[in-house]
Amino acid sequence: MNLVSGPAGSGKTLLGLHFFHGGATVHGDNSMYLSLEEPRANLDKVLGIFGMEMAPFESMGKLILLDLGELRVADKETGTMLGFGELQDFLRSSLKKNSVERLVIDSLSAIGLHYRSMRDLREELFLFARFLRETNVTALLITESLENAGLTRWGFEQFVADSFIHLGMEETKGELRRTITIRKMRFTKHDTVKHPLRITQNGIVVEADERVV
Ligand SMILES: Nc1ncnc2c1ncn2[C@@H]1O[C@H](COP(=O)(O)OP(=O)(O)O)[C@@H](O)[C@H]1O
Ligand SMILES: [Mg+2]
Repeated sequence: MNLVSGPAGSGKTLLGLHFFHGGATVHGDNSMYLSLEEPRANLDKVLGIFGMEMAPFESMGKLILLDLGELRVADKETGTMLGFGELQDFLRSSLKKNSVERLVIDSLSAIGLHYRSMRDLREELFLFARFLRETNVTALLITESLENAGLTRWGFEQFVADSFIHLGMEETKGELRRTITIRKMRFTKHDTVKHPLRITQNGIVVEADERVV
């Protein structure tokens, strides 16, 4: 279970799409991308811009890209999004049916809108994490961080994850630059350098020997 956080525009969705697309096309894993924020048309556009081919893999069932905004539960009181319970019900059948090995959820923050108390949200997230762990899929969970307000949206998402990658947007000399840092990776002696993250015509590029100074 892997977590990626960062402010709006830091490249979380693009990173998720790389993990999803490369998972199937390079590594042969059946991969599923659940979008709760952006409609399918937007994601198709991004995939197209960065040359990530969808159609042949989709018809083979290797890539499954779903806009779960459509599955939103119209709760009369909150009038908003689906919660972790509904998501779990959906995944329980669809992961097995499609033999999914990689899963991206973009984003947890969108699911949080379902809850009115932080306590409920925290409990539900922990239960969801336990469910996900038992499925044995490799999951990439995306969460938004607010500018200057901690590394994750709620401050506890990182505790359920086995790895945690933070994407940054830093202002230097009147210009924003993107960064990527591995904050946690269980059982692993990982890189701790803050690297520049560039978005090129091929998508995200990070150089191992480059650091933010
Ligand atoms: N073709 C492109 N070339 C370079 N940068 C791009 C391109 N398309 C989008 N971007 C950058 O990527 C950002 C969006 O990244 P995204 O992964 O959607 O961020 P997040 O999901 O973290 O909000 C845009 O705000 C833009 O700055
Ligand atoms: Mg996004």
